[in-house]
Amino acid sequence: MANASGFFSPTVPSLKKRISPSIGVYRSGFCSSEGISRRVSCASTVEGSERLGPGVSPSESRIPRLVSKGCKLVGCGSAVPTLQVSNDDLAKIVDTSDEWIAVRTGIRNRRVITGKDSLTTLAVEAAKNALQMAEVDPDDLDLVLLCTSTPDDLFGSAPQIQRALGCKRNPLAYDITAACSGFVLGLISAACYIRGGGFNNVLVIGADALSRHVDWTDRGTCILFGDAAGAVVVQACDSEDDGLFGFDLHSDGDGQRHLNASFKENEADHALGSNGSVLGFPPRRSSYSCIQMNGTEVFRFAVRCVPQSIESALKKAGLTGSSIDWLLLHQANQRIIDAVATRLEVPPERVISNLANYGNTSAASIPLALDEAVRSGKVQSGHTIAAAGFGAGLTWGSAIVRWG
Ligand code: ACO
Repeated sequence: MANASGFFSPTVPSLKKRISPSIGVYRSGFCSSEGISRRVSCASTVEGSERLGPGVSPSESRIPRLVSKGCKLVGCGSAVPTLQVSNDDLAKIVDTSDEWIAVRTGIRNRRVITGKDSLTTLAVEAAKNALQMAEVDPDDLDLVLLCTSTPDDLFGSAPQIQRALGCKRNPLAYDITAACSGFVLGLISAACYIRGGGFNNVLVIGADALSRHVDWTDRGTCILFGDAAGAVVVQACDSEDDGLFGFDLHSDGDGQRHLNASFKENEADHALGSNGSVLGFPPRRSSYSCIQMNGTEVFRFAVRCVPQSIESALKKAGLTGSSIDWLLLHQANQRIIDAVATRLEVPPERVISNLANYGNTSAASIPLALDEAVRSGKVQSGHTIAAAGFGAGLTWGSAIVRWG
């Protein structure tokens, strides 16, 4: 496995703010009286977004939020499998070409899990990198959220990651399943835990291995996906320093027919047991289908719903598209990224994209791209990022966050 940014540096940017649980903060979820007395009052309305003009920094213009405790992103990491599969490689197994894939999607390469690599090993490596950058000891983690639709264990892989990290205090660890929106949902979940009180360091991992669920004879889907893991450490801070400015989350179960990998029942045994046994019992071993996608419908959904979601989150934050430092979308298709950026009036130089190298890595794509952008020095402490995920469910959502 390799670090997604292609290098390991012992001097990764550090945003050290290691904290230990403060007196008056309890696991029960109740805020301390100290926390309540420090509440920031919500003094403004969304009119702040219209006031924003050139030269006004996002931090000066944001709407004060009513939070008793803040949270911020203090470390990130990523990991990708060693095996790289190019468009030309795929053209040897399905009727496609490098040109078609590159023009229609922007993808050139993707990484695929093989051999001893697993979703868990990738996630652990990404998590370790994030913890190292944050200078947070695994023992100081209060919660591990693994955002994935492809766990190594049907019952959830987060506890295995917690174990591999050596978290001696047995912090809660569980999986969140929301496909390509998983990471944004995990991020907001982490913020809710922290703001509720009692959780100081939350590790949010986005990891997926959709290569295991792709029909490698279907050129409409197998060209899109890759495997990866990315992670961030979300840490409690004073409400004044809160780094989650606004968010917006949605689901539409009606759209599931356009994108799914559904449970597939084997043919039922229609013969009623001679002894009057219940029809279809005991159930036979079943499985899930490979990814089924109506690409055109999913494309339409993405270019319609994602800008709306980001605009809604920006409005809650009192910001506009032109005032953010970075637009970081789920990396599904460069044409979707370009369309959303155009709608939000974000210029190309402020759009983060690494899709060409990794394809659609589902829940991993946002933290993977974030990690590369941070380690390359693009995203710097204090920068405002509009991040949005979208995909199966259907699910979609966005978060306006500050890095560092
Ligand atoms: N190579 C060559 N030709 C192809 C390929 C291929 N890999 N795939 C499809 N084609 C052909 C089709 O058969 C069709 O041929 P026809 O005109 O003779 O019928 C033609 O190319 C056009 O096909 P479309 O499906 O209309 O191509 P489109 O421009 O829509 O691109 C794509 C397809 C890339 C899948 C696009 O629809 C897309 O990106 N959709 C969004 C997917 C997405 O964002 N998913 C995110 C969520 S993933 C998750 O949550 C797990």
